[in-house]
Amino acid sequence: MKRPILIHPDPRLKKVCVPVPDVSDELRVLADDMLETMYAAPGIGLAAPQVGILQRVIAMDCVKEGEGDARPLVMFNPEVVASSEETNVYEEGCLSIPEQYAEVTRPKEVQVKWIDRDGHEQSETFDGLWATCVQHEIDHLNGKLFIDYLKPLKRQMITRKMQKLKRERAREQ
Ligand code: NI
Repeated sequence: MKRPILIHPDPRLKKVCVPVPDVSDELRVLADDMLETMYAAPGIGLAAPQVGILQRVIAMDCVKEGEGDARPLVMFNPEVVASSEETNVYEEGCLSIPEQYAEVTRPKEVQVKWIDRDGHEQSETFDGLWATCVQHEIDHLNGKLFIDYLKPLKRQMITRKMQKLKRERAREQ
């Protein structure tokens, strides 16, 4: 089931999320809903706080259309355990900040460990777009948005645009 995506600014997007104690059926449903919501948006990553759930869960799939099979990935309690010194710049966007994009510099490679949907611990080294995406999503779990990396003026400009968007959407309902 698709869930509504919160739009910045929203206090729930600024919270530090709590770890998942155990992977339950309820959490597997949440993970499936997050993947469905992400694909429908469409987007390449989604974090639980973006659907109003303040727990450490992310979903992602950075396989571009026409570039092989989809790789839906769900991570519970994901954690960056190592980062490269080499950095990469990507133009990032966010489903909670629609149609706004900006360049963000992050480590080029990260090793991440997480609990999968069967409750097993996993570890993998990501690079390229996957590395940027997983760092962006883990940031969400710590109440951090990609615009927090921008200069204050640019961040304020984007926030004002989003406030306007939210007012417009509220009027339409
Ligand atoms: Ni995002």
